[in-house]
Amino acid sequence: MALERTLSIIKPDAVAKNVIGQIYARFEQAGLKVIAAKMKQLSRKEAEGFYAVHKDRPFFGALVEFMISGPVMIQVLQGESAIAKNRELMGATNPKDAAPGTIRADFADSIDANAVHGSDAAETARVEIAYFFAETEVSPR
Ligand code: PPS
Repeated sequence: MALERTLSIIKPDAVAKNVIGQIYARFEQAGLKVIAAKMKQLSRKEAEGFYAVHKDRPFFGALVEFMISGPVMIQVLQGESAIAKNRELMGATNPKDAAPGTIRADFADSIDANAVHGSDAAETARVEIAYFFAETEVSPR
């Protein structure tokens, strides 16, 4: 197994529900370390840039509106197979399909407001981490 880093975002709905700590506890219990973190109100430009790969999808406008509707908590997680492990903890994109005990099953209300984002592959993780964090902001531990 490889030591990996992945980008995680706790979305505005979950921040508003005051469950940042409960979500962090799941990361920690799964052996993922938070090695960088910042709370941020995304600008429209930042949200559009982050989701640029989805710009032609029908939900793009709604996704951007939602992501700028309140502050988000952004973190870099590090651990063995961190990318897949985080996706497993998150559960399916649509909370209706998410397995019991996953973050989305427990904290998300709909596919529009689905509590968390996690990078889906190594290259995406590298790009997404660099989108929000300078190398000097990421703990080397
Ligand atoms: S993925 O992870 O790219 O395979 O997921 P995908 O289904 O392609 O969705 C990409 C992101 O768009 C969000 N999404 C939606 N937002 C609003 N409305 C609808 N209908 C919708 N469908 C998908 C989904 O949560 C993904 O966002 P992130 O932040 O990557 O989880």
